[in-house]
Amino acid sequence: MQNKVRKAVFPAAGLGTRFLPATKAMPKEMLPLVDKPLIQYGVEEAMHSGMNNIIIVTGRGKSAIEDHFDVSFELEHLLETRGKKDLLAQVRGISDMIDVSYVRQKEALGLGHAVLRAKELVGPESFAVVLSDDVIDAEIPCLRQLLDIHEFYGASVVALMEVDGPEISSYGVVDADPVAHNGLGGRLYRVHNLVEKPKASEAPSNLAIIGRYILTPDIFNSIESIPPGSGGEIQLTDALKHLLRQKPIYGLKFEGKRYDAGDKLGFLKATVEFALKRHDLGGPFRDYLKSQTI
Ligand code: G1P
Repeated sequence: MQNKVRKAVFPAAGLGTRFLPATKAMPKEMLPLVDKPLIQYGVEEAMHSGMNNIIIVTGRGKSAIEDHFDVSFELEHLLETRGKKDLLAQVRGISDMIDVSYVRQKEALGLGHAVLRAKELVGPESFAVVLSDDVIDAEIPCLRQLLDIHEFYGASVVALMEVDGPEISSYGVVDADPVAHNGLGGRLYRVHNLVEKPKASEAPSNLAIIGRYILTPDIFNSIESIPPGSGGEIQLTDALKHLLRQKPIYGLKFEGKRYDAGDKLGFLKATVEFALKRHDLGGPFRDYLKSQTI
């Protein structure tokens, strides 16, 4: 297949300030949604989209992430001797199916800077970027939806979602025009401009970038060419704007529901909705919620 994307980069060196104090000593990527850490949802999405080469950009205090994706002999031995086959399969499943590499981002200098740290491991091929805070529940994994566009046009693709009101200023925002594409019902856009965290009054549209990207390798040169932007950080959005001078970029309003799990309220909503969907917990949890007088 042309333009096959094998690698997914997970920036995970941020300080997680929106979730303090829980994230003082624990990486926010390890916050559990029901019983799986946030980052595992993203890794499984990448796996189900055909990528099994996972690159995690970590920082200080993030060793729990490395341990999570490593083999745990003691735990596996204990589960085996106790006959806990289901748990054993779950614990083994993820480390068996993927190949994880780590690269260090010594200082949290921005999302663009984090992605640049993966340059050597990615090499000259297109790759995905996944922000684990954005948990997406979708029938077809969001990354798979973006990959279909990438495979067709050979260009970089960002995930888009409509965000109305002042909240738009928390996102990268695109100026874009719809592109006709079979079966997408007007959800595909050609991007003309991108702005990182604009004032709501200056946002070019209500189309926000959500944390899923398929990027062509020339993004690395763009990241290296731009000055610090919003918040004094090297922004991936600014690098995409730079790349736009030479290459087309597409945006897809993906199908699925996105939760901002890096935010306390968003995390609670995701927890409740994911728990309600679980076959082992959904029933009793629904009964419990109903019994609460709100
Ligand atoms: C990052 C990106 C932003 C994007 C957002 C999606 O911002 O810089 O462009 O819209 O993720 O979640 P952050 O939320 O890390 O500040």
